[in-house]
Amino acid sequence: MVKEGKLPERKIHYIAKDFNLEKEELEIELKSIVGNKRSFVLLEGLIFFLSKTITNELIELIGNVQISGSYLGAVSYLDNIEDTDCFKRLIKFFSEEIMVDGKFEYLTLPTSYYESLNFYELIQQEDYVSLSKKYSPKNKIENGDLVVNEQLYLLQRV
Ligand SMILES: C[S@@+](CC[C@H](N)C(=O)[O-])C[C@H]1O[C@@H](n2cnc3c(N)ncnc32)[C@H](O)[C@@H]1O
Repeated sequence: MVKEGKLPERKIHYIAKDFNLEKEELEIELKSIVGNKRSFVLLEGLIFFLSKTITNELIELIGNVQISGSYLGAVSYLDNIEDTDCFKRLIKFFSEEIMVDGKFEYLTLPTSYYESLNFYELIQQEDYVSLSKKYSPKNKIENGDLVVNEQLYLLQRV
């Protein structure tokens, strides 16, 4: 993607912290990476695993660290994903194969959640199936019913 000019050259930092427990450590690490520069923070494949409270706190924390003009990318499922067969299979898998007590808690979010954030303006929203057609036409997803279709949000720090 970089060679094709679809993505800019950039330094990528992965932050490995437990967001349920290590908020102070996360803030320190994020500040040291971001400094006073504009940044792009991506929460990809993560929000599904967090509680609403932790998600609120995480986005607020990132908003406190990022300077105006920075970007935040977030990926999550809409509430109506629960009606799809592949999502039901995913939750069954987590409940039966991963969880010790058989109960898997997950988070879905409506688009209005992103529209009402204090620090960020929602710039763009697109779903995974539609993006596959745009950016990977050779491998585009033909049958959207067979994938757990995520929503991708691009937000800008005001
Ligand atoms: C489906 S994977 C997404 C991976 C990610 N897109 C990447 O490229 O590394 C879900 C990720 O969420 C992380 N995760 C789940 N709960 C978390 C938590 N409480 N704190 C931090 N990370 C968490 C997992 O460690 C895992 O890396």
